[in-house]
Amino acid sequence: MNDMANGACVFDAYGTLLDVASAAAKCSDELGDKATSLGQIWRTKQLEYSWLRSLMGEHADFWQLTGDALDFAMETVGVNDTVLRQRLMDLYFALDAFPEVPGVLQRLKDAGMKTAILSNGSPEMLHGAIDHAGISHLLDAVYSVEDVGIFKPHPSVYQMAVDGLGLPSERIRFMSSNAWDVAGASYFGFRVVWVNRYGQAPERLPGGPEHIIDDLNGLPPLLGL
Ligand code: LAC
Repeated sequence: MNDMANGACVFDAYGTLLDVASAAAKCSDELGDKATSLGQIWRTKQLEYSWLRSLMGEHADFWQLTGDALDFAMETVGVNDTVLRQRLMDLYFALDAFPEVPGVLQRLKDAGMKTAILSNGSPEMLHGAIDHAGISHLLDAVYSVEDVGIFKPHPSVYQMAVDGLGLPSERIRFMSSNAWDVAGASYFGFRVVWVNRYGQAPERLPGGPEHIIDDLNGLPPLLGL
């Protein structure tokens, strides 16, 4: 048995397991050439609001931030359509998982590892997406920042996984496609794998990944599976 087989693999959700670009992409008929920029502004603003609200001490859940960010993005690209707004939110509630996700989670479970999600998402939106992706039975736990009332990369978020799993931070592998989340989790003390799906440059922040992979197919070999 390898040294991590009785450890845990904890995953970021949005952008790591769930394809955040898929909502706007599915509305490309309505959005035309604005689909890509709308999707990018939506995501960027959603994250900015999470950091800004954490600094302001004015928490609202990630579902509200997702809607607020969508309103900003739609106005920025000049789209005013309440039916389309509702469709985009409905799609975000049931985002597609990346194709390799169910198979990789199954391999980790087969090897006796604990698996969990640790995410900014509200419990409702996380369960909506996980149920849609058909992966709930492959996850031992889903930790939402709603239990601590502040967003990543606040250390109290990462501490939830330590407390919930009953494992020290160095026995927890954390996977995220978000380089800033990689920095936060690594600085906290997790062993971090950066799933650099989007070919981004590394952040200039304290903390960094132990490994970098292109997608989650690279994870089982890292664990000796
Ligand atoms: C999450 C965001 C950061 O799932 O993607 O926590």
